[in-house]
Amino acid sequence: MNLVATCDPANARYVMSCNFDNFPKGPEFKQMFDILGDGIFNSDMDLWKNQRITAQGFMRHHLFHQFLLRTIRDKVEMGLMPIIDHAAKHGLVINLEDIFRRFTFDSACILVTGYDPSCLSLELPQVLFSKAVDYFEQAILYRHVRPRSFTKLQKWLNIGQEGKYKKSWKVLDDVLAEYTCQKRKEANKLNQELVSVDGVDLLTSYITEKESTGLICDDKFLRDTALNMIIAAKDTTSTALTWFTWLVSKHPILENKIIEELESKIPIAETKRRRLFNVDEVKNLVYLHGALCEALRPRICSGKETSFIQMKAVASALIYNYHIHVMEETPVVPAVSVVQHTKNGLMTRISKRWE
Ligand code: HEM
Repeated sequence: MNLVATCDPANARYVMSCNFDNFPKGPEFKQMFDILGDGIFNSDMDLWKNQRITAQGFMRHHLFHQFLLRTIRDKVEMGLMPIIDHAAKHGLVINLEDIFRRFTFDSACILVTGYDPSCLSLELPQVLFSKAVDYFEQAILYRHVRPRSFTKLQKWLNIGQEGKYKKSWKVLDDVLAEYTCQKRKEANKLNQELVSVDGVDLLTSYITEKESTGLICDDKFLRDTALNMIIAAKDTTSTALTWFTWLVSKHPILENKIIEELESKIPIAETKRRRLFNVDEVKNLVYLHGALCEALRPRICSGKETSFIQMKAVASALIYNYHIHVMEETPVVPAVSVVQHTKNGLMTRISKRWE
C-alpha cells in the first residue's frame, strides 16, 4: 500500500471532509480491512454517503440520545464507581486504561446492539468478544508494516497474526450473528411505550427503519455495521480518556480548575461530598470541554457528540470524587497501535476525595 503522510490539519480536512469524493479508499484498503465488510469505514462513494447520513440520523435521534444517557449513567454508577471504590478502599494499584477500555467496550456494545458483554465488573473477566476485537486490530496493523508475501504465507499456514485474525473473525461472526438474530426477534414485538421511555440502540433503528435508509439491511449488512460502529466507539474513547487522565495528573492546576468548574454548577450544600454529575450539568462546562479537546486535537467524527457525553460523564465522576496518583515506576508512553494505546497501561493508585 502506498502512503502519503501529512501533519497539516488543513490537508486532513481537505482530504477527509471537503473533497472526500476525490479520495476514495479503494480496493486495496478494503482488502486490508476485509473483516469490516461493507461497513462505513470500508465504503466509498454512494454507499459511504448513504451509510454516513443514516448513521448520523440515527445517532442524532432523540430516542438514541435517551438510550445513550441511560446507558452511560448506569455504566458509570454500577460499573465504573464500584471498581474505583474497591481499588481506593484496598489501596490497590490499577490500570485505568484497562478499566476505560472495559467501560467503552461495554458501552459501545450496548449502544450499538443493546447487549452488555459485562467486561466492566470487579472480577475483570476476559471476554472472548472483546479479545477478538483486540486481536484483529493488531493483525491489521501488522498487515500495514510487514511485506505482503509474509502476511500471505501466515494466512496460508494459518499461523501468527493471521492465524489469530482468522479465529477472531469466527468469534465476531458468531457473536454478532446471535445479537442480530435476537434483535430481529425483539424488533418484531417492540413495545412503543417502553421505547419512548428507554430509547433505542442503533441495531434496532437499522432493523425497524430500514425502508427510510435506502440501504439493504440484511444480516450481512447488520453484522458489518455493528462491527464498524463498535470499533469506532470502543478504543477511541478509552484512549482519549487515558491520555486525558494522565495529562490531568501531570497538571494539578488543571485538576483544580475542573473541580472548581464542576462545583460552580451545583448547589453549595452539595459541594465537598461524593457526587455524580448528570449530562445537563456537564454539557456546557467550557473548561472541561476545552481540556478534553486539548487532549484529543483535530478530528472529524460522526460519534463526536456521543464520545463527549461519555468522556464528560467519566471525567467528572473520577476527577470530582477521587485523587488519581499515576505510578512513576511505570512510564506512560504510546504503544505501536492503531489508536495510540499506552505501552504499559496507566497504572494508578486512587484515593477518595471525600467520604
Ligand atoms: C474520543 C473518541 C473518538 C475519536 C478520537 C474518534 C475519531 C474518529 C476519526 C479520526 C474518524 C475518521 C474520520 C474520517 O474518516 O473522516 C472517525 C470516524 C467515525 N467515528 Fe469516531 N471517534 C471517536 C468516538 C466515536 C464514537 C463514540 C462513535 C460512535 C458511537 C464514533 C463513530 C464514528 C463513525 C461512524 C465514523 C465514520 C465516519 C465516516 O466515515 O463518515 N466515533 N472517528
